[in-house]
Amino acid sequence: MFPKGFVWGVASSAYQVEGAAGPEQRGESVWDHFARTSGRVRDAEVASEGIRQVDRLTEDVGLIAGLGVGAYRCSIAWPRVLPEGRGRVNVEGIGYYDRLVDALLAAGVQPWVTLFHWDLPLALHHKGGWMNREIVDWFADYTAVVVDRLSDRVEHWMTINEPQVFLGHGYADGVHAPGQHLPRADVLLATHHVLMAHGRAVQVIRARAHKQPTVGWAPVGESRYPASEKAADVEAARAATFSVTGGPGWANNNTWYSDPVVLGEYPEDGLRVFGSDVPRVREGDLAVIRQPLDFYGINVYQGRRVRATADGGWEQVAFGPGHPHTQFQWPVTPEVLYWTPRFLHERYQLPLYVTENGLASMDWVHRDGTVPDPGRIDFLSRYLGQLARSIRDGADVRGYFHWSVFDNMEWAEGTRMRFGLVHVDYSTFERVPKQSYGWYRETVRTNGENLGA
Ligand code: FCB
Repeated sequence: MFPKGFVWGVASSAYQVEGAAGPEQRGESVWDHFARTSGRVRDAEVASEGIRQVDRLTEDVGLIAGLGVGAYRCSIAWPRVLPEGRGRVNVEGIGYYDRLVDALLAAGVQPWVTLFHWDLPLALHHKGGWMNREIVDWFADYTAVVVDRLSDRVEHWMTINEPQVFLGHGYADGVHAPGQHLPRADVLLATHHVLMAHGRAVQVIRARAHKQPTVGWAPVGESRYPASEKAADVEAARAATFSVTGGPGWANNNTWYSDPVVLGEYPEDGLRVFGSDVPRVREGDLAVIRQPLDFYGINVYQGRRVRATADGGWEQVAFGPGHPHTQFQWPVTPEVLYWTPRFLHERYQLPLYVTENGLASMDWVHRDGTVPDPGRIDFLSRYLGQLARSIRDGADVRGYFHWSVFDNMEWAEGTRMRFGLVHVDYSTFERVPKQSYGWYRETVRTNGENLGA
């Protein structure tokens, strides 16, 4: 059972679902360009089509509302609002979000809006993108346009989704758009600008919103949980969750992003391991980055097991042979929904929402027309059971957004990673609710009583 008033929701992002990507509909983003030119995106020829949600708005809002959820986390495509990233506003483009917001509210669903979920306008990338400090102003100006238009109805805002992933994959290892392999010092400079853009956007939302806003952000970061419940292992997992290491995947940590945002300073260990790669922080930057937040969003899918070492440190413990993995080869680790909220709550002292959680599984329409996905139901039962326990043990978690409501364009993996409660046929765009759709509806209806947790 979950606390009274717990927010049940589903999540998506603009590039992954919208479509309507023609030149008269929106400007190009780095993802359009990367899909078209890099050869590194599966199903590249249809990637920018998403699941054509713009053309199926009524049907999709009906399916969302049919779950009984109170909230839909969506993002705004910056290049749909400002095709060149700044300057000219695309009236039809922002008009689409008007329609989306109105349709959701009419169906009794609150929009939870993310301002940036990775689809940077290509025109801004050509001006240096996140490497150019001016982007802090560009993002503030874009935020103002959106807030001026939607904040008479939208109350819940998130600035930026998973800086760890778009910076790490987009600028360090090149797996995501814009596909760059920049030196670490450059990625850290871009990161600094992202954090400043976050802070400025929070200021803009608070200064301009018509309705009292609730503002947060949605980072990811490595989740580490104890291999046993012995105090030393718990301490090891806590230390590991909040550590910055300089090795491969260095961008995927919690504290380099969230310490400045919530506590107003870069973490000591990060300053040490990044050394001379740390960007010059100008006077006043950290004050911009650290803005009061109303909540902290956690995107969490998987974690690593760790235990204490004899010298008081921590080490990762391998999963045993045959440990369950999702189709993405992400380990199934329900414990992360117990430990990660607890640890984050202790350190940052903010109300938490799980802003993404879910799995990719091999779902298809069976001969009888149904889409059985028992693996998703089992996965969610386990994860949500741990979340309920985390709340009972003191973590202040106020809501859960399932990723995702529809199958969608999974970035570099294209159509093959199906994360939805609703199956999408990518040739007809027909939607078929999966078995998990009915199960999640029941979970929402009973506030988790069906979990028996
Ligand atoms: C997260 C992204 C989201 C989706 C899920 C599976 O990293 O924020 O857009 O792709 O993973």
